[in-house]
Amino acid sequence: MTMHDDVAKILVTEANLQARIVELGAALSADLAPDSRPLFVCILKGAYMFLSDLTRQVSIPHEVDFMATSAYGGGLDSRGVVRLMLDLKANIRGRHVVVVEDIVDRGGTINYLLRLLEERHPASLRVCTLLNKPSRREFNVPLAYVGFDIPNEFVIGYGLDIDEMYRNLPYIGVPTPALVERLLGNPARE
Ligand code: PRP
Repeated sequence: MTMHDDVAKILVTEANLQARIVELGAALSADLAPDSRPLFVCILKGAYMFLSDLTRQVSIPHEVDFMATSAYGGGLDSRGVVRLMLDLKANIRGRHVVVVEDIVDRGGTINYLLRLLEERHPASLRVCTLLNKPSRREFNVPLAYVGFDIPNEFVIGYGLDIDEMYRNLPYIGVPTPALVERLLGNPARE
């Protein structure tokens, strides 16, 4: 029994993830001026693996920094209220900023972050998200770079968790009902 046995199906394979990340890195490298010293902002925890692979595919000099948010509640569904748990070290005034997310679901997190960061007057502010669930969108947020549009399924792996675990899966998968039941209890409680 390994962690892979807790995955009912794979939605995006490791090979497809890595191939798309090569494309995203090339697009970012082409769109950002080579001497602009852009700042890539990783939204913890979910985006840590994506940032690591993405920035290795970005061919211009850049910086990385980190923010963390947390939505109230837990379980299968994300909630409306976003809290800032960790702020940037860098001053972004006049900087070109790329916000790196693992997933945009309802859009509440990215909506909150974009409003917060805009107030600090960056030269530009763009979002690069690995996954996008357009069917769930409640906030109209601009997404400059999207890795994959995915259906409305609860996904784990490649940074995304269930009960803080399974982030280390190298692909995007859907947990088995047994795993959901074991870690989250009855999903109907949502
Ligand atoms: C997840 C994900 C996004 C957000 C997306 O983070 O990483 O930040 O939810 O949901 P939304 O579009 O509906 O706001 P979460 O708050 O679960 O924290 P984590 O990344 O630390 O797991």
